[in-house]
Amino acid sequence: MSGHAHGSNAGIAHSHHLPSRLTAEAPGWEARADVIVVGSGVAGLTTALHARSAGLTVLLVTKAQVNEGSTRWAQGGIAAALAEDDSPEDHLRDTLIAGVGLCDEEAVRILVTQGPDAVRELISLGAHFDTDSSGAISLTREGGHHRDRIAHAGGDATGAEISRALVAAVARDAGIELVENALVLDLLVDATGAAQGVTLHVMGSGQRGGTGAALAPHVVLATGGFGQVYGQTTNPYVATGDGVALALRAGAEIADLEFVQFHPTVMWLGPLAQGQQPLVSEAVRGEGAFLLDSRGQRFMTGEHELADLAPRDVVAKAIMRRMRETEEAHVWLDGRHLGADTWLQRFPTILESCRSRGIDPVTDLIPVAPAQHYASGGVLTDHFGRASIPGLFACGEVACTGVHGANRLASNSLLEGLVFSKRIAEAITSAPATVREPVSPSGSEGLLPHRVRRTMQQAMDRDAGVLRSAMSLADATRELHSVSHADDAHPCTEDWETTNIHMLATTLVQHARLREETRGSHWRDDYPDRDDAQWQVRLVSTLSPDGELRTRTEPLVHGDSAK
Ligand code: SIN
Repeated sequence: MSGHAHGSNAGIAHSHHLPSRLTAEAPGWEARADVIVVGSGVAGLTTALHARSAGLTVLLVTKAQVNEGSTRWAQGGIAAALAEDDSPEDHLRDTLIAGVGLCDEEAVRILVTQGPDAVRELISLGAHFDTDSSGAISLTREGGHHRDRIAHAGGDATGAEISRALVAAVARDAGIELVENALVLDLLVDATGAAQGVTLHVMGSGQRGGTGAALAPHVVLATGGFGQVYGQTTNPYVATGDGVALALRAGAEIADLEFVQFHPTVMWLGPLAQGQQPLVSEAVRGEGAFLLDSRGQRFMTGEHELADLAPRDVVAKAIMRRMRETEEAHVWLDGRHLGADTWLQRFPTILESCRSRGIDPVTDLIPVAPAQHYASGGVLTDHFGRASIPGLFACGEVACTGVHGANRLASNSLLEGLVFSKRIAEAITSAPATVREPVSPSGSEGLLPHRVRRTMQQAMDRDAGVLRSAMSLADATRELHSVSHADDAHPCTEDWETTNIHMLATTLVQHARLREETRGSHWRDDYPDRDDAQWQVRLVSTLSPDGELRTRTEPLVHGDSAK
């Protein structure tokens, strides 16, 4: 399996102790299925549907309402080589370049070759993409793409349309039981160490209220990202990294956590803005909008051959440098020349989002700055979504399949969910697992109070954000260590989430400290250059049974030919 060989101890670090399980009541109820899918974005919904096509029963658990994850916020679209002048090989090349030498090339090849069919399947399930006058899917461009290959829906409401179509398909299937308002807690394993279900807490009363156990020999994590580790993010409030934290506590391998993507053009709402921030899609630059600094000067033209449409990390860094030089808290996006009709037809969601905040992009510049957007790393999987624990799978943003490397190419994420969910269902049906009773959980338990969440987020924004250094990361480590002593938590959603955020932040900062180079979305002020000789490797973390966080380097099994 990709990346699971023994790695080097170079850069090994194991100073942190983290809980092996969350403090929670013993399960008071039980449910059973063939497969448990945790999460209801594109990855979770399509995994559930593919598992059903294979005749398996599915328990689909989701943290809030079924359509409240990150998918419905996706504006840009789905990247796939659907145009006549495009090819999977071209899409592969752009993805590898964006990933800056750390993609798993075989995983990318799977993504780009199976992608076009996956989009067609989505259409046959009922998703409506925007078309041109000839009825063909209209394709646009985003950062890092050398072709028009982004399919979109409702102009800039792609995620909402995909979510609508998939939720409707799931609702039609009586073999999928949906449990909403369910926060997943910990993995249940049998005496052989294989997954046999999860513990979860359901907000509500009755048969499925409170803490319970959902049992199945296949558990698919599709919980999305962990944007709430930061104070400013494009992710919704539910994105607290519950899946990665669960996998880490269970002893699974977690990789590439240092590669956090900061979207270059998030509307700037002032220094005190917190939580989910409004995205201004790259597709706006794809239609011709460009960045300006506070003096009204364009600054991307000399930076990269693709100028304002350079890969995301390049644009985010250029913006940060310009903000430093001009001592301003944001730059500007100029899309005035697109005209009222383009704004209305192509970007109705963004237009409304701007106007509701008193900015009219038809006549005004939009203030923008980078903010957390996407986790390129996560639960390390092979090419069939299998994690390092038998029976445990991960799909979508929670997973690290290796397709993103050090920086995800725009609009590859919905595609990843579509392609790998199908492969997970194939893996489950080709090697059915044995149902065994779970053993009682062992290891130390832990819980942090909600009151420390803001302190952690501020530390992550300040010290482990777009720009990092040994000194800033040492400060972040100290802050995370100091909050870990808080002992006034009690089992509830906010405290479980806060503990997950702490585990994710601690692992991310450990990776960021160890990776002494600048690559993709990991930018070290004190190591400004990319260092292939030492760092064309992946960082993989595990939690030992006694709660010690261990990080090692691991060679890329299917290395990246785009140097
Ligand atoms: C965007 O629309 O700019 C975001 C698309 C993505 O994150 O891939």
